[in-house]
Amino acid sequence: MPEVDHGKEAKEFHLDVPARNRPFFLKGSGALDWGTQNRLSRIFDPATGRTVMLAIDHGYFQGPTTGLERVDVNIVPLLPHCDALMVTRGVLRTMIPPTFARGIVLRASGGPTVLRELSDEEIAVDPDEMCRLGVAALAVQVFVGGPFETKSVHNLTRLVDIGNRLGIPVFAVTAVGKDMARDAKYFRLACRVCAELGAHFVKTYYIPEGFETVTASCPVPIVMAGGKKLPELEALTMAHKAIAEGASGVDMGRNIFQSEVPAAMLQAVRKVVHETMKPRDAFDLYKSLRG
Ligand code: R5P
Repeated sequence: MPEVDHGKEAKEFHLDVPARNRPFFLKGSGALDWGTQNRLSRIFDPATGRTVMLAIDHGYFQGPTTGLERVDVNIVPLLPHCDALMVTRGVLRTMIPPTFARGIVLRASGGPTVLRELSDEEIAVDPDEMCRLGVAALAVQVFVGGPFETKSVHNLTRLVDIGNRLGIPVFAVTAVGKDMARDAKYFRLACRVCAELGAHFVKTYYIPEGFETVTASCPVPIVMAGGKKLPELEALTMAHKAIAEGASGVDMGRNIFQSEVPAAMLQAVRKVVHETMKPRDAFDLYKSLRG
């Protein structure tokens, strides 16, 4: 039965407290729908506005990558230390516990394997499946300047249309061809194009010259890609520089799961990203956690 209404006198309407209208914490995301903002809050920590994403989606084009041969054994123990997990639906369903409460960033493009031309991708997940899995974002590779550029950009725009309809943000991953220059000019172009075409956040590589112009000219958050395995101190230094130069977090794979002690490395990266810890201090932390 509904409560008997005794009139205004019996209730507290806090007439002297103005209604709050808090701005959303994430760059370029203030005008998004509640569902999209809620999902972004499962990826980016609202306390710092940053994220430590663990990328383990490599198998979608290269099979059992070194360090990912047994996700249940090697990756599941790392989950408490990451803000979000970038993963394929196959690995998600078979090996990731559904009790994982942070963001799932679903690999939503694919097609060719390492045996073919990698840039010839399609959208590889149906909208129903995106909803059924309860994912926090959809990741799509964007090959700006590649041989299938228009198709790849079209994958992004189609996914943005689907994501906007469902309230699921889209994560554009800038993919650079082997022969292309990895400079600020290229990354400014690629990241800005992704944001202009509707990506809600963008993954790109750190570059020593001009990275701050890449983050400045991109109206949505930029997350630094990890790339090939580096010595731990170098990887921590790269993450520190990227954050100092405007990145909103990192999405690292091999530099975590191919580290000698992945859990120690992931915790050190967290300190760099969320607490702006100096690389040398983070490396000392890594060594002490490594034991
Ligand atoms: C990049 O193109 C793919 O999404 C990878 O599978 C992955 O995310 C890369 O991670 P990392 O370069 O840090 O190993």
